[in-house]
Amino acid sequence: MDPNDKRPVVLVTGAARGIGATTVACLAERGARVFAVDIGSDVVEYAAEFDGQVIGHVADLADPSQVAEMISICVKTMGGLNSLYNDAGIFGDTAPVEDYPLATFEHVWAVNVRGVFVAIQHAVPHLRAAGGGAILNTASTGALVGSAGITAYVASKHAVHGLTRCLALELAPDNISVNVLCPGATDTAMISTDFDGHGRKGTARVSEEIDSITPTGRMARTEELGAVAAWALLEAPVYMTGKPIVVDGAQTTRP
Ligand SMILES: NC(=O)c1ccc[n+]([C@@H]2O[C@H](COP(=O)([O-])OP(=O)(O)OC[C@H]3O[C@@H](n4cnc5c(N)ncnc54)[C@H](O)[C@@H]3O)[C@@H](O)[C@H]2O)c1
Repeated sequence: MDPNDKRPVVLVTGAARGIGATTVACLAERGARVFAVDIGSDVVEYAAEFDGQVIGHVADLADPSQVAEMISICVKTMGGLNSLYNDAGIFGDTAPVEDYPLATFEHVWAVNVRGVFVAIQHAVPHLRAAGGGAILNTASTGALVGSAGITAYVASKHAVHGLTRCLALELAPDNISVNVLCPGATDTAMISTDFDGHGRKGTARVSEEIDSITPTGRMARTEELGAVAAWALLEAPVYMTGKPIVVDGAQTTRP
């Protein structure tokens, strides 16, 4: 990739599938160059579909040294960094608090919270060098309300919301916005395979039940999240900072 290319550079984590993969396509459509990161090596094949506009990179966000390396390789390959989208996240287990496996709790936090924090630590000097930029984290409606049994995930998403608020204040003088996308239930593998729905993991019934309790009558499509994420990363005014961007079909609006 030509490092003198002036099109904006966006780093997206969790880019191999789901909301992250769709956001990569939305960003490319809007003319950005994308550094697409995932733990799954299929991210490299996915990136190759974009005729050189997207570079794929494999990294495990639970490992701080791989996160640091991801930022440095991105900047070397692309010639800089303008926006960072921390999308990757894992669900963990659903279990009563006394049975919740500590190792799962720690892994969920390593990916969902520490991975985001370390990525921002290493990205900020490059965003400053670019004269400012946008950081978008991904939480969930689970950052706004509680949910029984999904303790590690929901607490981690509250932490991402808190981290967003602190860093928006810290980085506002540098012309860097920090916001947090809060999707409601979205039609991805996270819902179809990971979400437990109280013991009915991976069944069609879980998806049907989510559709039936959502005011729109259906889950979000990844395109709906990708369009909002791409706007927040490329076009939103820097004055919009420190806020949750809730895209949930009015799930959290009713009493
Ligand atoms: N789908 C939903 O209903 C929903 C709702 C609210 C919030 N979210 C959040 O949106 C984000 C994307 O969710 P999704 O539904 O697209 O998930 P998904 O499971 O479809 O995709 C997540 C991607 O992240 C990657 N990933 C997981 N662990 C990683 C690691 N350690 N290092 C690097 N990459 C890793 C996976 O390989 C995968 O490609 C997550 O943060 C999730 O918590 C999703």
